[in-house]
Formats: sequence, structure tokens, C-alpha cells
Amino acid sequence: MPFAHPVEELVEQRFSCRSYLSQPVEEQTLQRLTDYAAALQTGPFGTQLRFSLVAAREKDQKALRKLGTYGFIKGATGFIIGVIQDDEKNLEDFGYLMESIILFATDIGLGTCWLGGTFTKSSFSERVSPRPGELIPAVVSLGYCAKKPRRFDAVIRNSAGAERRLSWEQLFSDSRFGVPLSRETAGDYATTLEMVRRAPSASNKQPWRIIKDGNRWHFFLQRTPGYRERMLVRLFTVADMQRIDMGIAMCHFELVARDHGLDGRWEINTPAIEKYDEFTEYTVSWVS
Ligand SMILES: Cc1cc2nc3c(=O)[nH]c(=O)nc-3n(C[C@H](O)[C@H](O)[C@H](O)COP(=O)(O)O)c2cc1C
Repeated sequence: MPFAHPVEELVEQRFSCRSYLSQPVEEQTLQRLTDYAAALQTGPFGTQLRFSLVAAREKDQKALRKLGTYGFIKGATGFIIGVIQDDEKNLEDFGYLMESIILFATDIGLGTCWLGGTFTKSSFSERVSPRPGELIPAVVSLGYCAKKPRRFDAVIRNSAGAERRLSWEQLFSDSRFGVPLSRETAGDYATTLEMVRRAPSASNKQPWRIIKDGNRWHFFLQRTPGYRERMLVRLFTVADMQRIDMGIAMCHFELVARDHGLDGRWEINTPAIEKYDEFTEYTVSWVS
């Protein structure tokens, strides 16, 4: 693991930083982030991706609003731009790898914020020259955060961030939907699941659901009704934010599990589990 801090701490510390100090990020720090991002080329599903770090330009702040992002991003000194090819699980792979870059950025003291929108034909895309068929489903703003980073111990005490999340019982089930998973049954994986619960997601919708089935952990996407369509109509984009959210959840799950010495692999094998409703979709399973 290339991180100096335990992944769990980084997950706890990260939050969406929307206001940055004007202080530029040192060349050496940017280089570390660039090197980390450059080494990530393939996601867990095998999609080829590439990431670039670019300096912010004066007009970026205004441009972001027109590209369908929400929230007001003030003073970011740079952006991480990821480019994907058209592939079946490209958005999950994108979410997975970009989130690992975010955790690395957190590790070296930087603030970040995911920004989902229509970047493919924007001033952001000019800076990374996408080839025909390539997409930019989201970018991440970067810089020194104007707000102090959360302190790990304070986070644990106050559970900051956690209260804006769905409960453990709503997210994790035992063998089938509707049967809440107890922390005891989750066993060694209890912390890993908690770190999925803390993951960022588009509009904080938290669409991930996990079912423990023996040594298999099935990941289901619980789509927010109308969210995809609303996004599609509003943004004229093919980016499906909730699939990016799934990749982010997979990243937290795998990095925290491995950090705790828990081994496993991803497998796509649809289980015979009745879905929660028509908006539930199976994505992948972690086999431990
Ligand atoms: C795919 C994706 C897209 C997002 N898009 C935006 C955005 O356009 N504007 C914004 O301010 N935050 C955006 N966010 C951040 C979420 O709103 C944020 O993660 C969520 O509210 C939880 O808060 P936290 O990150 O501080 O824990 C996005 C997050 C994800 C994962």
C-alpha cells in the first residue's frame, strides 16, 4: 500500500472540500500525485484509463456551473481529469481508480471534491485531448483546503460525516434484502463495511447495498428512481453517476480490507438473491 496513513484514517478524513486556499501546491507534492495517478491504468474490471493533473485557469470556476456540476467550488488550484474508453464497466473502473487518487491526495494533505458533469466537450477536455470515443465523466478539484482537515480522533468521537449517511442496517444485509447484517456477523469485515458507508457519492445518494452470503459479499446498485434520467436529460451526458459511486464503494472496500490483511478477489457471478425492487441492479461480488 503506497499510503503513509491507514486507509481507514484517510477515509475518515476525506470530505468534499469546496473552498481552497490561494496557496499553490508545491511542485514536489504535485509530482507525487502525478506519479501515483500515472501508475493507475487499468481498473478492477479491466478498462483502460488515464488521468492527468492540470492547473486551474481563471475561467474554470464559472465554467463548472455550465457543465452541470452543483455546489460552488472556490479557489481550486488544480484538477484531476480522468479519461475513459467506452466499455461495459468503465464508470465503475473510473470511480474506483479516481477515488484511490483522492485517498492518496488526502494522504499527502490535499483537499479534493468530486465534480460530475458533461466534461467531454469542455475546456477541461481540451487540456487532456481525448481521442474519438473517449469520455470524461467527472473531474476532481484539488488544492489546500480552506477548512481544517477533520482530525481522526475527533471524527471517531463525533461521528462527523456519518450522520449524513444511511444507517448500517439500511446498507448491509445478511443473505437477502430485508435482513439487516449485524456487526458480529460481519466479523473482520465490520470496519471495511463502515468505510464503504463513509464513501462519497453523487448528491450523497449512497446507492450501494452489500449482502453477505457466506464468504461472498455481493454489491448491488440501488438506483435512485429518476436520477439517471434526470441527469441524462439535464446534462445530455452518458455519464451515469451512480455507477461511478459503485466503483468508489469498491475502492473503499478493497483498500480497507487489504489494509486489514483480508484477502479476496472481485468476481461477476449474479447470485440467486431476490432484488429489493425494480431499481436494484447486481454489480459484482468480493470473494474472500
Ligand atoms: C460521482 C460524484 C459526483 C459529484 N458531483 C458533485 C458536484 O458536482 N458538486 C459538488 O459540490 N459535489 C459533488 N459530489 C460530492 C458529493 O456531494 C459528496 O460526496 C456527498 O455529498 C457526501 O459528502 P462528503 O464527500 O463531504 O462526505 C460528487 C460526488 C460524487 C461521488
